[in-house]
Amino acid sequence: MSLEFRILEILREKDEILSGEKLARELDVSRVAIWKAIKRLQEKGYSIRVSRKGYTLENKDIILPEDLEKIISRSSLFRTAHYYYEIPSTMDLAKEIAESGISGLILAEKQKSGRGRLGRYWDSQQGGLWLTLALIIPLPLKETFILSYLSSLAVVRALNKSYNIHATLKWPNDILLSGKKLGGILLELKAEVDLLSYALIGIGINVNNKVSEKNFEIPAISISEFLGTNVKRLPLLANLIEQFENLFRSRNTIIEEWKKHSDTLGKMVRINTLEETIEGIAYDIDRDGALLVRTKNNVIKRIFSGDCFHLR
Ligand code: BTN
Repeated sequence: MSLEFRILEILREKDEILSGEKLARELDVSRVAIWKAIKRLQEKGYSIRVSRKGYTLENKDIILPEDLEKIISRSSLFRTAHYYYEIPSTMDLAKEIAESGISGLILAEKQKSGRGRLGRYWDSQQGGLWLTLALIIPLPLKETFILSYLSSLAVVRALNKSYNIHATLKWPNDILLSGKKLGGILLELKAEVDLLSYALIGIGINVNNKVSEKNFEIPAISISEFLGTNVKRLPLLANLIEQFENLFRSRNTIIEEWKKHSDTLGKMVRINTLEETIEGIAYDIDRDGALLVRTKNNVIKRIFSGDCFHLR
């Protein structure tokens, strides 16, 4: 682990001011080395207060590469962990990793060109949880729809477990809080004939980051805005991976549970698919993952993908 990360690890556990001397002794380096490392951390954006007595970390919401390693060591689906401070998008890195046949968790503090569904830009400032899961499993292509439901449901469960927050789900895989967009899932698949080669599951959750409304098709919200205080992202991440794995093992109950948290079912919706625009009441999700919509002419439409708007 680099000196910077070792300093952050010590500072995040302590509420009191830590002197340069104490840090230097604990890490077996000079005080100058500590001071230089602190400067580099500050330049990166870590909020370390410096006073005559020493250093304090103001924002304790820190995720370290070691934390990811620990999470991965408990996982049966993901073999490697990759931490970045700033990259264009975790999706691109995940693709490279998956192409080389390795599964893993890729997390970035910031993304320069984060992307959302349907080619939208995804604003990824520091404080949010931005990750991609590179999943390598031999799933029949016709069963891959479940990954979208599984991932968004895992987020809902993890939010509940971590912060006692009850989020809801907008079809196909948006996470809502108070009717506003808290996060979303971006699923990219590669398949050979009718078997999945790998799935890249991009997960974005607004946690302590500022959200700008203009980035979303509906108003957005963050956890810190909802709770009125900043939270730590690490429990959310750990719970998310745990719930992902739990749900993966009991795949046949996912749709039923998803429906219980759905904000879409029972609503009048407009859905833009590649072929047409459909308006009607969304009333169910079938075993193949299709959303069932009854139009005003009483025609039942089975919709597998599209952009969904809640009308009332
Ligand atoms: C959506 O449009 O609702 C999906 C948003 C997915 C955003 C996440 S953030 C981590 C990963 N990297 C990206 O560039 N996008 C996904």
